[in-house]
Amino acid sequence: MDVKEAIKKRRAYRSLMPAEITEQLIDDLAESAQLFCSCFNNQPWRYVFVYDKDMLQKMHAALSSGNEWARAASMIIAVFSKPDLDCLIRDREYYFFDTGMATAAIILRATELGLVAHPIAGFSPKKTREILGIPEDMEVITLVIVGRHSDSISPVLSEKQIAAEKQRPSRLPFPAFAYRNRFQIQDE
Ligand SMILES: Cc1cc2nc3c(=O)[nH]c(=O)nc-3n(C[C@H](O)[C@H](O)[C@H](O)COP(=O)(O)O)c2cc1C
Repeated sequence: MDVKEAIKKRRAYRSLMPAEITEQLIDDLAESAQLFCSCFNNQPWRYVFVYDKDMLQKMHAALSSGNEWARAASMIIAVFSKPDLDCLIRDREYYFFDTGMATAAIILRATELGLVAHPIAGFSPKKTREILGIPEDMEVITLVIVGRHSDSISPVLSEKQIAAEKQRPSRLPFPAFAYRNRFQIQDE
C-alpha cells in the first residue's frame, strides 16, 4: 500500500498532452469513488465522464477565461450533487464533504495511473448543466480536468501558472492548521 506516493505526486498541472481514455479507466475511477465512505452510506456523488471529442469540444464553452489550458483535456469529469442526497444533521449538510472525499479518491487513483486530474472552480455550472443534460436542481461542484502531464509548458499559461508548473505552490506550515490537543490561536 502506498497512498503517500500518490499524495505527494499529485499536482494540479496545466500543461497537458493526450491520455488514452478507455471504458476500463472510467470504471476504475468510478470504483474509487464508489468504495469511499459517506454519511449513512448515502453516496451523494454523481459524475459525468466526458471523453467524446464533440462533447469535450462543447464543454470548452463552459470554461472560464484563465482555464484555456483545460481545452487540452482528454476527459472532463463533471462532479455534481445536491443537499437532499446526503445527511442533513441540524444545519450540517454533508453532500459537499462526501462528494469531495470521493472525488479526492478519483484524483489520487488517476495520479497513481500516471494521469493529471486537476479540479477547477473556474467554469460555468449553468452551461455545464445545459451541455451535459444535468438536472437543474443539481449543483455542479467542480470539473476535474484529466490528461497526461506534458513537459512542454502550455503556451496559454500566465507567468503565475508557469511558475506553478515548475514548483508546487507553497503550503501553510503545520502550526497554522494542525493543532495538538486543542485549538490555539497563532501569533501573526
Ligand atoms: C476546488 C478547487 C478549485 C480550483 N480551481 C482552479 C481553477 O479554476 N483553475 C486552475 O487553474 N486551478 C484550479 N485549482 C487548482 C489549485 O490552484 C491548485 O490545486 C493549488 O494551486 C495547489 O497546487 P497543487 O495542487 O499543484 O499542489 C483548483 C483546485 C481546487 C481544489
